[in-house]
Amino acid sequence: MIAANWKMYKTIPEAVAYVGRFVPMVRNAADVDILIAPPFTAISSVAAALKKGGRTDIFVAAQDVFYEEKGAFTGEVSPSMIRDAGGGFAIVGHSERRQYFHETDSLVNKKAKAALKGGLGVIICVGETIEERNTGRTFDVVKRQVSEALVEFQEADFKNTVFAYEPIWAIGTGVTATPEQAEEAHLFIRSVMKEIYGGDIAGDMRILYGGSVKPDNVDEIMACPDVDGALVGGASLDPESFSRLVMFKKG
Ligand code: PGA
Repeated sequence: MIAANWKMYKTIPEAVAYVGRFVPMVRNAADVDILIAPPFTAISSVAAALKKGGRTDIFVAAQDVFYEEKGAFTGEVSPSMIRDAGGGFAIVGHSERRQYFHETDSLVNKKAKAALKGGLGVIICVGETIEERNTGRTFDVVKRQVSEALVEFQEADFKNTVFAYEPIWAIGTGVTATPEQAEEAHLFIRSVMKEIYGGDIAGDMRILYGGSVKPDNVDEIMACPDVDGALVGGASLDPESFSRLVMFKKG
C-alpha cells in the first residue's frame, strides 16, 4: 500500500485538480493499494473525483477520527460521517496528533476500535523521537505503542488494520531511516505482534514505512522484506511525485 497523507494542505479545487492529473498517471500501477488522506473538508470531493475517474479502488482516508458515533463533541468527526463522505479508512495516532494534540496510546486505541466498528480500515502510526532513539529506547517505545493500540482487538479487526512505522525524526525532515533501520523496526513490530497474537496475524499485517519517503529513496525502502508500503506526506502533495512512489520499482 502506498498512502498519501496530505496533512493540512489543499483546498477542494486543488484536491479535485490533483485527482484529475493523478488518475491517468497510475493507470498501469499493478499489485498496489493506493490511498489518499485529504483534509476532512475534501474527502467527499476526492471520493467523487476518483469515482468520476473510474478509480473507486483507490482508498480515501480521514487523517483522524473520533471514537463516538454522535453527540456533543464540538469539532469531532465520527467513523460513520467519514464513510458517509466516501472515506474507507482513517489514520490514527499520527505523531503530529500525539505531539500537538496530546493523543495518548489509550486514545489511539479507542479511535482505532471505533473506526473498525464503524466499518473503516485503520492505519495506526507508531514511532520514536530522536531522543528515544539516541537513548536506546526505540524498541520499548514502539512495543508500548503497538501493544496498547491493539488492546481488545478481535481477530477480525486485524484484516482491516495497517501499521505505519514513522520515526518522528524522519517526518518532514528530509532525513529518511536507512533501509536497515526501517527493516529492523518493521521486523521488531512483527515480532511484537507474533508474541501477542501469533505468527499468522503478524505475518499478514501490513506495515508501512513513513518519514521522508521520496521518489529517489522509495525503491530501496520498498525492497526491504518487512516493508509493505509507505505513508507519505511531503512527496505526496504533487501528483507526479506521488505517482512515481506508487509505481515504485520492485527489486
Ligand atoms: P513526510 O511525512 O513524508 O513529509 O516525512 C510522513 C508522514 O507524516 O506521514
